[in-house]
Amino acid sequence: MLPFETVLQRIEDEISRLRFDSPPKSLYDPVAYILALGGKRLRPALALMACNIYDDSVEKAVCPALGLEVFHNFTLLHDDLMDNADKRRNKPTVHKVWNANTAILSGDAMLIAAYRLIGLTPAAYLKDVLDLFTQTALEICGGQQYDMEFEARRDVSEEEYLEMIRLKTAVLLACCLKTGAVVGGASREDAGHLYDFGINVGLAFQLQDDLLDVYGDTAVFGKNIGGDILCNKKTFLLVNALKQASKEQADVLTRWMNRREFDPSEKIAAFTCIYNELQLKRQTEQRMKAYCDAALKHLEALSVPKERTEMLQTVCNRLLYRQA
Ligand code: IPE
Ligand code: IPE
Ligand code: MG
Ligand code: MG
Ligand code: MG
Repeated sequence: MLPFETVLQRIEDEISRLRFDSPPKSLYDPVAYILALGGKRLRPALALMACNIYDDSVEKAVCPALGLEVFHNFTLLHDDLMDNADKRRNKPTVHKVWNANTAILSGDAMLIAAYRLIGLTPAAYLKDVLDLFTQTALEICGGQQYDMEFEARRDVSEEEYLEMIRLKTAVLLACCLKTGAVVGGASREDAGHLYDFGINVGLAFQLQDDLLDVYGDTAVFGKNIGGDILCNKKTFLLVNALKQASKEQADVLTRWMNRREFDPSEKIAAFTCIYNELQLKRQTEQRMKAYCDAALKHLEALSVPKERTEMLQTVCNRLLYRQA
């Protein structure tokens, strides 16, 4: 099997070979910009690793994996606009460097470029891969819509929150893994287990993202801290804070959530103080651990020798401690 570093290097090499230099420059420069900023490349890595469980060569997974990473980056362009986020991967977001219309249209172009890359999947697997991708992309739109709608509500249940993050984040990780498995020749059953592994890893991944948005270090995380608090985003922390708050804490949260004008750092400090009082960091980490354990059960259920899944196990455990 290929070492993780080799998988990542292959992805970087392939991404640097993608060309987004045809006119108009103002449409494609933002595409080249966001893709060159890197990121963890988690999604294509998952696709190649899943393929590599079944096939010593990852060739068949390369094009769909690239398409899935281009698609992920497209979602970030639109997400940053929707979340009014100024910083991504330690650089100004596309709508800040250019403008909102550019983030929309360059994002659209990336979605189409993603389809083109996924269309290069070997013919024997193309229909299954395309069907899964299309279904996943629609689910992500649904998740993003819930995410937006929840900002205006304060009665979002944990169940609703979990469904929202399953859709906006987890299904893409699951899709990457299943795509890799399918082109690698996995059985339907194994492909299903890898999908479910991805869902559980994805839920843990979004919980850590919610945590880092409060407790992360901007320089490492690459995004501004407190962005979720400023827009009343229903994160695992806020949903549970609203549920567990004392009368006084609930009043403080409600007052800040209703304010139209405020000092951003004061609001972030007030929320963080309540999160600390309720020990929500610890609660979130416990939940993440539970999702990682559930994920690992799906790896154990695969029909392959244990050593072929070790790399995915390591990735899952590393995600528990990620800071970026
Ligand atoms: C950011 O994804 C969007 C979320 C689902 C939280 P990543 O944290 O994987 O972003 P990059 O690609 O590494 O920058
Ligand atoms: C990401 O959710 C979901 C998608 C991009 C589809 P977030 O809004 O939490 O992601 P970040 O924190 O901006 O990366
Ligand atoms: Mg965002
Ligand atoms: Mg968002
Ligand atoms: Mg986030």
